[in-house]
Amino acid sequence: MKSRTTYTIMIVFLLFIQQVISGCSTTVTKNSQKDNLHKIETGLVSQNLYQSKCALCHELPDINEYSSDEWTSIIDNRHNTKAARKFITIEEAEKIKGYLKSM
Ligand code: HEC
Repeated sequence: MKSRTTYTIMIVFLLFIQQVISGCSTTVTKNSQKDNLHKIETGLVSQNLYQSKCALCHELPDINEYSSDEWTSIIDNRHNTKAARKFITIEEAEKIKGYLKSM
């Protein structure tokens, strides 16, 4: 009788541990899914900004034509003008730069 009680307690304890472990892993999965969604959302917002803002004064440049460094220089130096600032804020420029560099 006594050993049966011990056995039951052991089982309950193990089930409890299992719940704790699976509870943790579910949270991790949810968080990484959230991260992924957030990444996709940020990417789409930046892509949208690029397509709408960078075709205002000239045709939309080809993404593959320039390297990461060239994009930085094009956006930070060449487009650091009063005219460009009227159309694109610094925050928007940063997002566009991030998008172009990630492509
Ligand atoms: C206010 C108008 C304006 C906006 C908005 C604008 N550009 Fe330009 N862009 C210009 C002008 C003017 C030139 C030509 C300048 C030159 O040849 O130096 C140019 C040239 C370029 C070039 C060619 C650079 C080269 O080396 O020949 C690229 C690439 C470019 N722009 C990318 C962009 C991107 C990316 C954006 C969005 C962040 C953007 N432009 C937004 C005015 C604009």
